[in-house]
Amino acid sequence: MIDLLKSVDDLARQKYDVLVPTMGALHAGHQSLIKLAKSKSENVLVSIFVNPLQFENKDDLINYPKSLEKDLELAKAAGATAVFAPSESVIYPGNIEKISAGPIGELYEGAARPGHFSGVLTVVKRLFDLVKPKVAVFGEKDFQQLFLIKQMVKQLSLPIEIISAPTIRDLDQVAVSSRNIKLNESERNTSLVIPQALKMATVEQMKKLLATESGFKVDYLEVIDERTFMPAAADTINKRVIIAGWVNQVRLLDNMRMGVNK
Ligand code: PAF
Repeated sequence: MIDLLKSVDDLARQKYDVLVPTMGALHAGHQSLIKLAKSKSENVLVSIFVNPLQFENKDDLINYPKSLEKDLELAKAAGATAVFAPSESVIYPGNIEKISAGPIGELYEGAARPGHFSGVLTVVKRLFDLVKPKVAVFGEKDFQQLFLIKQMVKQLSLPIEIISAPTIRDLDQVAVSSRNIKLNESERNTSLVIPQALKMATVEQMKKLLATESGFKVDYLEVIDERTFMPAAADTINKRVIIAGWVNQVRLLDNMRMGVNK
């Protein structure tokens, strides 16, 4: 069995070079992060903490899937050394400074979920302070989150290297996500339009394709400059398409580098 750490004292017994922060309900996407972490160091710590600060909808928080036993197995199988699954009082003992996500934190996902990114940055900073890793690994699936974490590390001059792992996709190209289990068969079929649209060459073509799928309600579709997260200009070199929307009650998001995924 893999070591399960709960307290600050448990953490103090060993140094972990690489941290993979998660909220549990681990799947192939998380396992790819753990495998990438393992390629950097023998000492990989996976944290599992469902962070109340990043849920603006309390029902979402209550209904967030929890599967610690299975998570321990999946973390171990992917190469993790230990799992840190603290209680809320360990993460938030009081007087924890809230981190602002700044103006970019209010766009796109941040506009749809006010306060979400401040909650994400606050818990990530707290995990960094507790674990003091040299490297932390995040998925490109949450591209705005990844951007804001890198921005925080730079602004606060934290001595941590942030590395990112590409989005894992199922055979039908839908991005792997813990929300996918909420989709029934017909909703899953509807969601195929997302990766299909992202592979189009222009935004006009993307919009045209999305309009053919009435079951998908677009929240935002934007081409951003990866370096700034602002809308891309004609001469932007690294453009990324970001998209979010609803298939009935399930909110899905995805992104792709533009012009490289044919
Ligand atoms: O991406 C996630 O699972 C969460 O937002 C994170 C980074 C673990 C912070 O709670």
